[in-house]
Amino acid sequence: MKSEIELIISDRISKVGIMSFAEYMELVLFHDEYGYYNNREVFGRNGDFITSPITSNLYGASISNEFIKLRDSMTDPVILEVGAGDGSLVISILEHLSMKKALPETYYIIETSKKLIDLQSENINKKIPELKNIVRWEGDDEVVKINGLIICNEFFDILPTERFKIDNGKIFQLFIDYQDKFKLHWKNQTGRFTDIFKNLNIHNILLKYEKYESEVNLNYKLWADKINNILEKGVVFIVDYGYNAREYFLPDRDTGTLVCIHNHSANFNPLENIGMQDISTFVNFSHLASAFRDLKLDVSGYLEQSKFLINLGILDVFEEKSFNAEDKLIEMNKIKNLILSNAMGDVFKALVITKNYANSLLATREYNRKEIL
Ligand SMILES: C[S@@+](CC[C@H](N)C(=O)[O-])C[C@H]1O[C@@H](n2cnc3c(N)ncnc32)[C@H](O)[C@@H]1O
Repeated sequence: MKSEIELIISDRISKVGIMSFAEYMELVLFHDEYGYYNNREVFGRNGDFITSPITSNLYGASISNEFIKLRDSMTDPVILEVGAGDGSLVISILEHLSMKKALPETYYIIETSKKLIDLQSENINKKIPELKNIVRWEGDDEVVKINGLIICNEFFDILPTERFKIDNGKIFQLFIDYQDKFKLHWKNQTGRFTDIFKNLNIHNILLKYEKYESEVNLNYKLWADKINNILEKGVVFIVDYGYNAREYFLPDRDTGTLVCIHNHSANFNPLENIGMQDISTFVNFSHLASAFRDLKLDVSGYLEQSKFLINLGILDVFEEKSFNAEDKLIEMNKIKNLILSNAMGDVFKALVITKNYANSLLATREYNRKEIL
């Protein structure tokens, strides 16, 4: 028997025809009632996965250090987080800033999932009730204008993406069809995506491949526009797993970067566990950076998460805390998870964008590799 979300998708296909992969991903992840992010326990040990802010509150504390520095050069900066998950990042940032007597007047959150807004609010009330009035949820179309810091942690990887394949010099786009069951449908789309490929200097590389599948995310541009409309002056931190365009389209990565997560285990079939599993793709940071550059924002940094956190002072934050011996060991292991190269340290990157802001940043003070984007 079909689930509610399967019924919704198959009905839509029978009425209007095949749907693009991005439309499919939008529905299975974010449908108001039956999408994955509105109907599953996503985060934590009982959910499907754990992110950096959930791993350790020193992650948020380190990011707070940049905000403290911003306050020296800006009047009343605020923070805005896009896609706040279970609220771990807002909680750890506000706790740390309260301790440092450097709280913003407002911490805005833009969040699409009603279930997660409830969870964020519940966790904030439970863990930092005295700071809850600082937090305000905004619809992304209400377009608040801010000076300050915008944070997108593991946000761009879940933005619905298009998938394409190269087959003997031709470009095909993936659609989803339904005939008794859900099926992949490749449609020859001569010319589609070529401007993007040319801009990224990867067009000729891709066309050389005889058979190659990957992703190209048209939502990067949409979100670069949104962020540009929101931010008047300040800094954007985008932290996610991903590569620059050259690494993204290496010959061996010929089935793309899409991955699905269900109960902490990975599979590569987006037609499995429909509405019950996360679907994400690695972020193409060259493509994302070019979307900001096109809007005349500055691409100020690109570096591994390990270096980003070390620049932000994670090791000092750790030293400052007074742990008992057992907690110290536990916390040290969490930090290892965030910065070691065989854990999250290297595959996660930070892209740092600035707008109307020329002051130096902590996040990029060393190890900046923006030239490889
Ligand atoms: C993979 S989770 C990461 C959560 C959190 N940032 C973390 O690192 O733990 C992605 C988050 O982005 C939210 N999200 C997805 N699409 C969104 C959209 N269009 N607008 C706002 N939030 C969105 C999801 O509901 C979820 O909270």
